[in-house]
Amino acid sequence: MATLLRFIAAAVLLTLVSTVDKSNFKTCQQSGFCRRHRSIKPGESPYLLLTDTVIVTEEGIFGDVLNEINRVFFTLEIYPLKDNTLRLKINEKNPIKQRFEEPYALTGDGQSETFAVIDRSSDGFTVKFGKIRAIIKAKPLKIDVYNGKELVVSTNARGLLKFEHYRNKPESDVQPAEGEDHGNAPPLQEEDASDGLWEESFKGHSDSKPHGPASVGMDISFINSKHVYGIPEHADSFSLKETTSTEPYRLYNLDVFEYELDNPMALYGSVPVMISHTPHQSAAVFWHNAAETWVDIKKLPDSNVVSSITGFFSGGDSDPPQVSTHWFSESGIIDLFIMLGPRPMDVFRQYGALTGYNNLPPLFSLGYHQCRWNYNDEEDVHQVHENFDNHDLPMDVLWLDIEHTDGKRYFTWDHNKFSHPLEMTANLTARGRKLVTIVDVHIKRDTNYFFYKENRDRDLFVHTKDGTEFDGWCWPGSSSYLDLTNPETRNHYSDTFMLDRYKGSTLDTFIWNDMNEPSVFNGPEVTMQKDNIHPGLGVEHREIHNVYGMLFHQGTYEGLLRRSDGRLRPFILTRAHYAGTQRSSSVWDRGQYCRVGSPTYI
Ligand SMILES: *[C@@H]1O[C@H](CO)[C@@H](O)[C@H](O)[C@H]1NC(C)=O
Repeated sequence: MATLLRFIAAAVLLTLVSTVDKSNFKTCQQSGFCRRHRSIKPGESPYLLLTDTVIVTEEGIFGDVLNEINRVFFTLEIYPLKDNTLRLKINEKNPIKQRFEEPYALTGDGQSETFAVIDRSSDGFTVKFGKIRAIIKAKPLKIDVYNGKELVVSTNARGLLKFEHYRNKPESDVQPAEGEDHGNAPPLQEEDASDGLWEESFKGHSDSKPHGPASVGMDISFINSKHVYGIPEHADSFSLKETTSTEPYRLYNLDVFEYELDNPMALYGSVPVMISHTPHQSAAVFWHNAAETWVDIKKLPDSNVVSSITGFFSGGDSDPPQVSTHWFSESGIIDLFIMLGPRPMDVFRQYGALTGYNNLPPLFSLGYHQCRWNYNDEEDVHQVHENFDNHDLPMDVLWLDIEHTDGKRYFTWDHNKFSHPLEMTANLTARGRKLVTIVDVHIKRDTNYFFYKENRDRDLFVHTKDGTEFDGWCWPGSSSYLDLTNPETRNHYSDTFMLDRYKGSTLDTFIWNDMNEPSVFNGPEVTMQKDNIHPGLGVEHREIHNVYGMLFHQGTYEGLLRRSDGRLRPFILTRAHYAGTQRSSSVWDRGQYCRVGSPTYI
């Protein structure tokens, strides 16, 4: 039914301008952790650095942080890195279960920089490396980062840090989760069980939340800044808007049909990187977390009103103007990279050093790409190919959408309509053209389909919370989804691009990865249940949602390299993306365009 509706909707799109059905997607109010973080009052941070626990090693500075309301301990790690970069990590000190740390975005941990710790006292200390100084204040915890004399970035300046520690599920819904161990501490607001801590539902989908509340959040101020940019993907202005009277910007890879412009709603990709420019100083932050994330933005231009509105506690009464941003993620840890430029190009180099750089694209991929949903058959392809020449129009790449396959079984061809794929491709390449075919992440549940059977036999699919193979609805109907956290799944997927496995493909066939948010037509918010399990890493889908699509196109990249023995540069286009996607894939904008006959934008 969902498929049918989408087909009808897609057909209607050709003639009508319609808009997104917002009711399919959560608002902040409909998300428990978003509500909890958004309601924190500034200026009342309960997190204290215990300065007598601070130790300094060659790599960094380590100390304990205490939430003085619930008496839970956290660890603070500070790593000065080469090229004006600072990494801050906050994690639980003694979690009842290890917290997840996203393992795919970084190409390394960054190179340590030599540093000195000075001005150490019970109030805090200063870390100095090159021209950078980070002043760590203990009560409450606040970290001010200076380049020379200029304060550039300040974290927890408004006191919005909140780290929900793992806890055992209380027997009764009204009982606070911790208690005995922690003496007479007053119950936390966050312990209100009615606030979606242990279960949450949305449009008939229930999230069982077996591990309970586990969100993390903090505010990050860009000092003397008026504009911040980044955190793609949103259909909004280049300079990000204040969200004081709107929804926060949301980062949660979703298949949003007919999305609206000028809107902070989540779209297909999430890159949790934000950049600020002032006349003298560019800076960026990378909030390294792949769980659902929201970001609030507040601009505070007038220094006289800052203290009263924000609780920005600089200690003086003349707080600087700033763009204050507030980040919160559903799970994981706080792992923040602060890149201090100072020029825009420095910031991009610093980010590239962490997550990798783009390869030079193959020359053909910079040309004109012709794509439609769908070319009906080989004859149709032939006509388009001929007519571009007849009309003297340049064309470099022809694309085939899902209908070229045998019933949306990727790596196959429709027996009747595309029965001579090698000859069809040879006709294109004879005139210097290339072919792109689509390979999606949902795999048709059909034991006669080789790729389904192989993955099923080796248990390489995502599981439900009950441990059975997850069955979701997508283009082929009933589908299973590759567990890309398992290296064996990725390796096997990559191998499927070998020319003797992907029959009918050639070294001139390149790949388009779609629907890899992942899109699940009958799932919550058109994606996968957060309590699904990825057996490879043994984690819930919740932990890795935003990086799932990247694992898919990285597997494609590896496959295309492998099929040419590492000789030929791949070209891949992906819809879902995350920090690090630039290493292997291009991304397109405006997901619907190809489908309605306009050229694909890359
Ligand atoms: C390849 O091109 C030839 C010559 O134009 C044409 O006759 C043939 O049908 C084409 N083959 C396919 C599979 O499109």
